[in-house]
Amino acid sequence: MDWVAIAAGALWAMLPAYVPNNAAVLFGGGPPLDGRRTLGGRRLLGDGKTWRGTVAGVGAGVAIAGALNLVRPIVAPTLADPLVGFPFVAALGLATGAMLGDIVASFLKRRLDRERGAAFPGLDQLDFAVGALGLALLLAPTWTRAAFPLPALAVIVVATPLLHLGTNVGAYVAGLKSEPW
Ligand code: CTP
Ligand code: MG
Repeated sequence: MDWVAIAAGALWAMLPAYVPNNAAVLFGGGPPLDGRRTLGGRRLLGDGKTWRGTVAGVGAGVAIAGALNLVRPIVAPTLADPLVGFPFVAALGLATGAMLGDIVASFLKRRLDRERGAAFPGLDQLDFAVGALGLALLLAPTWTRAAFPLPALAVIVVATPLLHLGTNVGAYVAGLKSEPW
């Protein structure tokens, strides 16, 4: 098995899911999604999930997919097959699913009495990947199965937490995020 090609293809196909979180950190703020509503005395989601961040995240994910579609003819001749193109529904599924996975994780964290920003190892690093792949599978099943064969999923499970941790530490050092996770 050519693991370099598999890894390159997997990370390329996941880019529209990776970018939304970073865009949310950059552009987030303002009114929270939950309208400050509570459930059993705790916030539904908390101030860390905002309308602006969510819309910017989905928009950035879809925009990245469009950009990858544009550069694919230029970079694909060398790496050929593994770099997929993104139909609009697939891009929308990956980007929206990434934001949704993160939102569902926030909901769970509040139910477990974790404050906004508290670390939840495992959940924090994979929530958005599970959401992205899940919604992409729902909206574009054929494309998703072809873009993410089992070895690609294995690469994603290993690489995603590392990438997530790396970008969050970077955002923290740059003063964009208040916690390094
Ligand atoms: N963000 C946002 N909207 C989202 C997701 C993230 O505005 N849908 C912004 C917020 O400013 C948030 C930051 O990105 O504080 C970091 O995101 P994340 O770590 O997911 O949120 P936390 O602040 O840790 O909140 P939670 O504990 O609920 O995950
Ligand atoms: Mg967090």
